Amino acid sequence: MNTISIETESKSYKVHVGSTIFESALALYEQQIRQADHAVIFVDEAVAALHLDKLLKPLQSFLDTAVHVYKLPSGESSKSFETFLACQSFLLVKGCTRKSILFAYGGGACGDVIGFVASTFMRGIPFIQCPTTILAHDSAVGGKTAINHPQGKNMIGSFYQPEAVIFDTSTLTTLPHQQVLSGMAEVIKHALISDERWLEELLSYHSLESMTEEQKLSFLVKGIQVKAEIVKADEFEQSVRKYLNLGHTYGHAIEASVGYGNITHGEAVAVGLVISLQLSERLLSLREGTAKKLFHSLHKLGYTFEPVLTQEIDQLIPYMKRDKKASFGELHFVLLEKIGKPCMKIVPLEELVKAHVQLRQWSKEV
Ligand SMILES: NC(=O)c1ccc[n+]([C@@H]2O[C@H](COP(=O)([O-])OP(=O)(O)OC[C@H]3O[C@@H](n4cnc5c(N)ncnc54)[C@H](O)[C@@H]3O)[C@@H](O)[C@H]2O)c1
Ligand SMILES: [Zn+2]
Repeated sequence: MNTISIETESKSYKVHVGSTIFESALALYEQQIRQADHAVIFVDEAVAALHLDKLLKPLQSFLDTAVHVYKLPSGESSKSFETFLACQSFLLVKGCTRKSILFAYGGGACGDVIGFVASTFMRGIPFIQCPTTILAHDSAVGGKTAINHPQGKNMIGSFYQPEAVIFDTSTLTTLPHQQVLSGMAEVIKHALISDERWLEELLSYHSLESMTEEQKLSFLVKGIQVKAEIVKADEFEQSVRKYLNLGHTYGHAIEASVGYGNITHGEAVAVGLVISLQLSERLLSLREGTAKKLFHSLHKLGYTFEPVLTQEIDQLIPYMKRDKKASFGELHFVLLEKIGKPCMKIVPLEELVKAHVQLRQWSKEV
């Protein structure tokens, strides 16, 4: 079991990562779990069907009373007001109090909504993140919680750190291919903002399937270490935490414009990563050819660039202007001075248009 320490201004806690680790990792929190008056597992319903016992059985072994289990709608649809309210009602009906403990068992969506439930129930109760997707190596760490509003994604939420993160990577074996692509895009993002040699290693694979479980595990640990460093320096996204948004300004626009559910978050971010590197070459000193190399590597790994062909830049720009980092109508992008050296930069519209046109051309050529 690998253990990474997360130290933030508001809380320090540990992330435990490894295959089949629930029993040993939960044992580290036995006292805290035993002292809780109620333990509740909130689980993504698809994850429940495949993996519920992995967490439920060892957890139940610590307790004399039954563990409560509540199944959430699978994936993004759980990040709603309706689910939020249903979870709060469940806790109240079961008689939960400030002494209760919650477990969020699922992907990033489950972690986000349950983090928000935990942060608001009786003004905040402890919760443990138990992520089950590759992407959630990112979302389960750092304490951002959220639900969606019809007006926009992640519009309602809080910063609220978990007691611990227990990432049993044996759950990843059932992850659909599209979700593997999605999660690995965030791993590649972590490499781009931190370490050129690691990036080269990641991009040297011919397919994501050719990575062994052990290699994937080591990449997840590295990704979590990058995130740990950043949230330690800037828990509330006042400065360097913004760098984690590399590829996200354009990526979020693609995600929204194509329609949520038609493309995964990470696949949209992958396209955004290439655009960020093109802009970094044009506006900063990033070595020429880096963006094109990334494009070809991502294409080889199975990422789609189809949305660049189907979406007009005029459709994308309004979404980018609504980005949380935009101000006074200007587009603020995370760019790279070089691999491992991110910075914020205002991007002139005409440069963005040029990058979009260029990426279209590359996409037509492959
Ligand atoms: N809080 C943060 O810092 C942060 C960071 C990045 C992303 N996010 C959020 O994370 C969410 C995306 O998370 P995600 O990519 O994990 O997607 P997700 O939680 O929506 O899960 C994706 C799909 O995979 C299924 N699934 C999950 N684990 C599985 C498993 N082990 N086997 C089989 N199927 C499984 C789910 O049922 C769902 O259908 C978004 O809502 C995004 O906003 C949050
Ligand atoms: Zn992301």
